[in-house]
Amino acid sequence: MRMRIVFAAAFLLCSFGASILSDGHAAERTKLWSKMCASCHDGTTAIDEEGLRDRYPTVDDFTAAVLKKGNPCMNILKNDKKLIRKIANEIGIPATEDKK
Ligand code: HEC
Repeated sequence: MRMRIVFAAAFLLCSFGASILSDGHAAERTKLWSKMCASCHDGTTAIDEEGLRDRYPTVDDFTAAVLKKGNPCMNILKNDKKLIRKIANEIGIPATEDKK
């Protein structure tokens, strides 16, 4: 009887853990940029991914731009620096300027 409880607990733990892990992967694949920014930043409504990458050499520059220059319609994003930095990474902006 005791064994069965242990077994059941282990099973639950494993499947629960696996579901958390696979959720993580799913979230990684669904890029934040395409979910949260690309609809406006498509190169027509607003500057696109490539344009931003050219304009802002580092994550810090990019983050500052979102917080200071971002359109009022982006206000909802401006209290989440962590998110902005993540998105900067996603679209390939380096953390520090390349020393070529
Ligand atoms: C509702 C539409 C909308 C959404 C969503 C949006 N933006 Fe913007 N954003 C704009 C507009 C409009 C501008 C100003 C026009 C421009 O610069 O092309 C702007 C400007 C910016 C700028 C300043 C560009 C510059 O140099 O002038 C940055 C950086 C930026 N957005 C980043 C982001 C990021 C990152 C996201 C997603 C987390 C995002 N935006 C989501 C509409 C949007």
